[in-house]
Amino acid sequence: MERLRLCSRVLLLALTNFLISEVHSSATFTIVNKCEFTVWPGILSNAGIAPLPTTGFALQKGETKTMAAPSSWGGRFWGRTHCSEDSAGKFSCVTGDCGSGKLECSGGGASPPATLAEFKIDGDGGKDFYDVSLVDGYNLPMLVVPQGGSGDNCTTTGCVVDMNGACPSELRVTGVGGERVACKSACEAFGKEQFCCSGAYGTPDSCKPSSYSQAFKSACPLAYSYAYDDKSSTFTCTGADYLITFCPNPSASQKSSSDGQGPESGSNDTSPFDNSSMVYEGALEVSAAPSTCIDVVRGQAVAVAVAITAAMWRLRQPF
Ligand SMILES: *[C@@H]1O[C@H](CO)[C@@H](O)[C@H](O)[C@H]1NC(C)=O
Ligand SMILES: *[C@@H]1O[C@H](CO)[C@@H](O)[C@H](O)[C@H]1NC(C)=O
Ligand SMILES: *[C@@H]1O[C@H](CO)[C@@H](O)[C@H](O)[C@H]1NC(C)=O
Repeated sequence: MERLRLCSRVLLLALTNFLISEVHSSATFTIVNKCEFTVWPGILSNAGIAPLPTTGFALQKGETKTMAAPSSWGGRFWGRTHCSEDSAGKFSCVTGDCGSGKLECSGGGASPPATLAEFKIDGDGGKDFYDVSLVDGYNLPMLVVPQGGSGDNCTTTGCVVDMNGACPSELRVTGVGGERVACKSACEAFGKEQFCCSGAYGTPDSCKPSSYSQAFKSACPLAYSYAYDDKSSTFTCTGADYLITFCPNPSASQKSSSDGQGPESGSNDTSPFDNSSMVYEGALEVSAAPSTCIDVVRGQAVAVAVAITAAMWRLRQPF
């Protein structure tokens, strides 16, 4: 009798544990630097969510770092570039700086422009929501590849194109040597409500894509290009881990640090961006084998779409 009671208690405990682990799924993030240079990832947890064990670190060329995020974690990853410590020991970066003055960001967010990978683990319906966003501008190519999850749109997203060489002068951020290191969003560069989706343009109906956000969207169709770009840019998985890669193809990141030949801006026969210095980094399924045939078809369709859009770019007159 006593034994039976103990046994059922153990069973109940096991069942409860099983249910809890089913309902609250956590995720492992693996961050890989395939750039030809050091990247200093920054991590910011959403408001009210505990920080991960690290909020900023250096990732040498070729290096990988793995970290576990607890259930229901939400936050963002980005890459800081051209970082250094001054003689007083203050750490800062030319792009993606988080203002902490130290390697760890400790609650500081990325100073735009920076490419962001955003996550909400175990959100609505137990699904993870994730996206790669250029709403705050662009500094590095980033790819997010879900691993081992399931769901209708549990697929690779990111921006694998080098947008720095193509960035028009009015959006461009340059380093000390004049090299192009980042590309601002139109909202940040011009501060106008129609670019920022604020004020009179604060609704999805009133805030339309601009020629600038469309240029980002054409180059990186899966990434968020402006504030109300949700439908085509938010992906979901259940029970996945995530691989985040900076510069998924190193050849283009080498190019990103050299000075591209941009068009004269302001002439009306060009798009805001220079398509010729935009480097497309190949098919999207870079680091993980696609999980379904549909992924392969989708990846190739995206590659074709990017090529066609790039070719047609100069023919369009956005202004
Ligand atoms: C992915 O699925 C979510 C939830 O069903 C949906 O809101 C979103 O638009 C989908 N995203 C894409 C890119 O299809
Ligand atoms: C550029 O604009 C000028 C005047 O705004 C116009 O005369 C010219 O035809 C335009 N060029 C092209 C290629 O559209
Ligand atoms: C850029 O646009 C021009 C004009 O449409 C086209 O001739 C050229 O091939 C395009 N370059 C790339 C890399 O797509």
